[in-house]
Amino acid sequence: MNVFGQNFSVQILGESHGECVGILIDGCPAGLHIEPDEFMPDLIRRQGAQQKGTTPRKEPDTPIIKSGVFDQHTSGAPILILFENTNTRSKDYSDLKNRPRPGHADLVAKLKYGSFNDYRGGGHFSGRLTAGLVAAGVIAKKLLAPASFNAKVVSVGGQGNIEQAIDQALNEGDSVGGIVECLIDNISSTLGEPFFDSVESLIAHAAFAIPAVKAVEFGLGTKAAEMRGSLFNDDILDTDGKTASNNSGGINGGITNGNQILVRVSVKPTSSIKKTKRTVDLESGEQVDLSVKGRHDACIALRVPPVLEAVCAIVMADLSLRAQKLARVIKT
Ligand SMILES: Cc1cc2nc3c(=O)[nH]c(=O)nc-3n(C[C@H](O)[C@H](O)[C@H](O)COP(=O)(O)O)c2cc1C
Repeated sequence: MNVFGQNFSVQILGESHGECVGILIDGCPAGLHIEPDEFMPDLIRRQGAQQKGTTPRKEPDTPIIKSGVFDQHTSGAPILILFENTNTRSKDYSDLKNRPRPGHADLVAKLKYGSFNDYRGGGHFSGRLTAGLVAAGVIAKKLLAPASFNAKVVSVGGQGNIEQAIDQALNEGDSVGGIVECLIDNISSTLGEPFFDSVESLIAHAAFAIPAVKAVEFGLGTKAAEMRGSLFNDDILDTDGKTASNNSGGINGGITNGNQILVRVSVKPTSSIKKTKRTVDLESGEQVDLSVKGRHDACIALRVPPVLEAVCAIVMADLSLRAQKLARVIKT
């Protein structure tokens, strides 16, 4: 089932070229003041056509709040938020119906759903589905204030010079991957339910739901394996658990330790590229060349920061409600 979370849960719906995409949020406390305009800053950060290296497909992304909000306050009922798809060019995908893109979900979706899947624009596997996640993240962030979530792209193609790496890829009709880092500040300590619902387990679970994410790490992450304990272990400074360094990324034993949480994800290069790759024609069974046309992000990582912030906030809202650190009715 396409559902994530226990006390603050989300269900994603829609297809890239269908009528709409959206999200169903359940468990949100009643009484949270929220208006449609408050969703826009994060939704705009996620949009394409904002910077070089992102798709020219731009949608208004106006959130249509169908239920769960009454008189500008959450009512305690499930919240359904939809986004209409208005800027689709499905003919770009007719060539791909029987020629799956290497690296994309085209072939696995066709095999799993017996060719009933909507393949247009990647269907349910499109990055467009992350609009709903960002909307849920806006609500979760508001619930968790004054906690803050700040993600940014830290490198592209292994280089700090992001613009140069993107220019090189674009000039060669290619795509490029990147690293996105999210810092979470002012979050309560003692959140997390070991073993299986440790903070790392839940954030990794949610972050891997973001299409194209291929690795997730916390604090120093994989570098920890190259270190000695005397260098890695964070000296404790006070009884609240403040530490001198933050190599653990704000989490010990799967529980928040009161320091800044640091999550880093690796986003793969886009599958849809002009540069020729080999695939199989599903009608003839022959291997053929494939150069993907249409509108695509050359660097997906550029669009991931608000999505990563959103999934982190969703997890933290869920864990805060489980720990009863958030009220069921917000008194404003
Ligand atoms: C914000 C965002 C935008 C994306 N844009 C594209 C795109 O333009 N073209 C493409 O082929 N994949 C794009 N993707 C990635 C695909 O959705 C993803 O590669 C595909 O669903 C297969 O999943 P996987 O890469 O996790 O295996 C995007 C992903 C995100 C999060």
